[in-house]
Amino acid sequence: MVFGVGDPDADVLFVGEAPGADEDREGVPFIGRSGQLLTSLLAEIGLRREDVFIANVLKCRPPDNRNPARAEIAHCREYLDAQLALIQPLVVCTLGNFATRLLREGPERITDIRGRPEIVTLGTRTVRLLPMLHPAAALYKRTNIELLRADIGLLPELLALGAPEQTAAPPAEPVATEELIAPQEPVAREEPVAHGEPSAPAEPPQLDLF
Ligand code: URA
Repeated sequence: MVFGVGDPDADVLFVGEAPGADEDREGVPFIGRSGQLLTSLLAEIGLRREDVFIANVLKCRPPDNRNPARAEIAHCREYLDAQLALIQPLVVCTLGNFATRLLREGPERITDIRGRPEIVTLGTRTVRLLPMLHPAAALYKRTNIELLRADIGLLPELLALGAPEQTAAPPAEPVATEELIAPQEPVAREEPVAHGEPSAPAEPPQLDLF
């Protein structure tokens, strides 16, 4: 499992796609060629890997480097949500289509929206989301390096803006322990009325993004 690496109090969270072979071997995200490019572009704006947090949509490597499957993305989502909630970043940089579609909840292609910051609410946190090309795309086509460099170059001014106005509902108050253990009046139970097949519990709506 490749969970994530960096400063747990970072202002910037990078979200990639999934670990590759190097990352799988070492248990650390973005240490292969893509990671080295990301690290050197960060250095150009005066940031070290240790200053940011780096994670992925998937926490495990898909076999043969295939694209993440919908079920895998859904399965790993709660870990990414927990990372967002704990790190509380100001800026979330989504690297490539998978992270961008997941966190923007939209079908747009990264090539059409890269380098355009947006304000989005992720769980209880409102953040500046900056979609970027995936470093692997920049390794694949050299002209993309300049685009990725330009995207990363937006970070200093975004950080200078500070956190956007927090519009999410605050997390629910924890229930006091006494309320959990206080004796309760017995509640009369209604017998369920059978109407044909028992219905399955309602599933949350699925976004068809991948
Ligand atoms: N590509 C990714 O998306 N993540 C990694 O950790 C490495 C390569």
